Amino acid sequence: MLELQNVSYVLPDGHAILRDVNLSIDERFVAVTGPNGSGKSTLAKLIAGIYMPTSGKIILDGEDITTLSITERAKAGISFAFQQPVRFKGITVKDLISIAAGRKITLSETCAYLSEVGLCAKNYVDREVDASLSGGELKRIEIAMINARGTKFSVFDEPEAGIDLWSFNNLIEVFRKMYEKTKGTILIISHQERILDIADRIIVVSGGTISASGTKEEILPGLLGTVSPCRFVKEEVANGQH
Ligand SMILES: Nc1ncnc2c1ncn2[C@@H]1O[C@H](COP(=O)(O)OP(=O)(O)O)[C@@H](O)[C@H]1O
Ligand SMILES: [Mg+2]
Repeated sequence: MLELQNVSYVLPDGHAILRDVNLSIDERFVAVTGPNGSGKSTLAKLIAGIYMPTSGKIILDGEDITTLSITERAKAGISFAFQQPVRFKGITVKDLISIAAGRKITLSETCAYLSEVGLCAKNYVDREVDASLSGGELKRIEIAMINARGTKFSVFDEPEAGIDLWSFNNLIEVFRKMYEKTKGTILIISHQERILDIADRIIVVSGGTISASGTKEEILPGLLGTVSPCRFVKEEVANGQH
């Protein structure tokens, strides 16, 4: 279980990006949604240790991890997939997935992880994780990497961005299987209605606070009625633009 207790992230100029966030997360699938600029990525970065809260506590399975570094949090069982993934020149896709798994994995295992995210494995295993990969390819490789890590708390920041509809459908399967393997929590920041639909719980962030949290039955009707992003993305998908 991950707990955020009165977590705030305030910039040196006094501007609060997140204010007094209180959350307890122990569901399998949690979706975080909300308007652009509302603080979702900041929330994810606070969980992963990329940003340190300016006040409040973060507790993972009873252990206070507030002051732990990114690496220490990764060891404690937190994985994070960036909205804009990082590139690693000189490292091949196969290396990266092996590093993530924490052991030497076979070529066929690497290929299986890549195929699951919709990449034709043989074209990718020996490629460098550098600028020659497109944004969508990089995001899928990052998802394969987190799948190989199999940690108890995995955070994905808008995994759908740059991913076509065909791969996206498979991606939902990847998340389901990931849960079967880790029995942990998968927290996905998303505007995708199909992701919101499979979530055990939906958390809405707006204006730097948690404005709603509940089951999809409780949250979705309000979101679809008032906030356009979900409906908008649904229409884009229907038009084949995702
Ligand atoms: N390190 C930072 N310095 C200044 N502003 C930031 C920083 N990180 C985020 N912000 C601002 O905080 C707000 C929330 O950002 P973000 O968490 O990325 O939103 P979301 O992911 O919901 O779109 C935005 O207005 C963004 O520009
Ligand atoms: Mg974001």
